[in-house]
Amino acid sequence: MPKNFLGIRYLSKGDIESIIDTAFEYKSNSESYVNTLTNKNIITIFFENSTRTRTSFEIAAKKMGANVINIDYEKSSLKKGETDFDTIKNLSAMHPDAFVVRHYHSGYPYFLSKFTDIPIINAGDGTSEHPSQAILDLMTMLEKKGSLEGLNVCIIGDIINSRVARSHIEISEKFNWNLSFFGPNTMLPKADWIKEIKIEKSLRDALSKKDFVILLRIQLERNSGQNLPSLSEYAGFFGINEKNLPKDAYIMHPGPVNRDVELSSYAMDNFDNVLITNQVENGVYARMAVYSFCLNQ
Ligand code: CP
Repeated sequence: MPKNFLGIRYLSKGDIESIIDTAFEYKSNSESYVNTLTNKNIITIFFENSTRTRTSFEIAAKKMGANVINIDYEKSSLKKGETDFDTIKNLSAMHPDAFVVRHYHSGYPYFLSKFTDIPIINAGDGTSEHPSQAILDLMTMLEKKGSLEGLNVCIIGDIINSRVARSHIEISEKFNWNLSFFGPNTMLPKADWIKEIKIEKSLRDALSKKDFVILLRIQLERNSGQNLPSLSEYAGFFGINEKNLPKDAYIMHPGPVNRDVELSSYAMDNFDNVLITNQVENGVYARMAVYSFCLNQ
């Protein structure tokens, strides 16, 4: 059976801790991963745009000695009408060692995993999960707090469209977080899938007594704009800036950031408790550890 990496919901707490331990080992000791994936062929196929995830999966594979084949959506036979499914089926016939897949449809990596013996690594599926983002976020939190247990975390923004939020809901249950949400009512989930997650009543409450505040991007490609009067109004009511930035909480954002919407440019570039580039740096090691989890059995 292939060892897939499909979502936080499919991992035990022990799996997550083991992946994070491996990521930190790789971060602290460059000897520990050299040539661990020599002669492995990893195909990345992104049906949605990406900068951070795609590049860090590629750098991660190359640091470990693997060959990386990026399928360029625009130049592939997908543009001639071949289905996503047939594309993966034909690529599978070339016997790569893993697929890294991002897709706009929720559940697509899970669906693929039912039709191939090659490990599937989910690089973000629709509004469902972004598990490697969750791992790199946990690394960043652990570096700052020393423990992941019982953290006070608020997620602000476009929650209903967010695969990052859904992965963190799964994390929150495993690590006993006090997780809350804040954002425009039109972007907050209804009770059927938020279980007992608290909705903050004001931005002041959302920022108060938190270890971490995770800001989410307004996803204009998923029509989030229709849930808002305007981006400047969002910035006024829900945005973080140098005046309201909490001094005793760390600010995170998975990126890409809409500057001066979720976070002011000044706050983004001038405060040490804004951890966005720490997250991106950890992303390489998190993804190396994901490869190790799937391929080094
Ligand atoms: N955080 C994240 O998934 O960024 P990209 O869309 O650039 O990969």
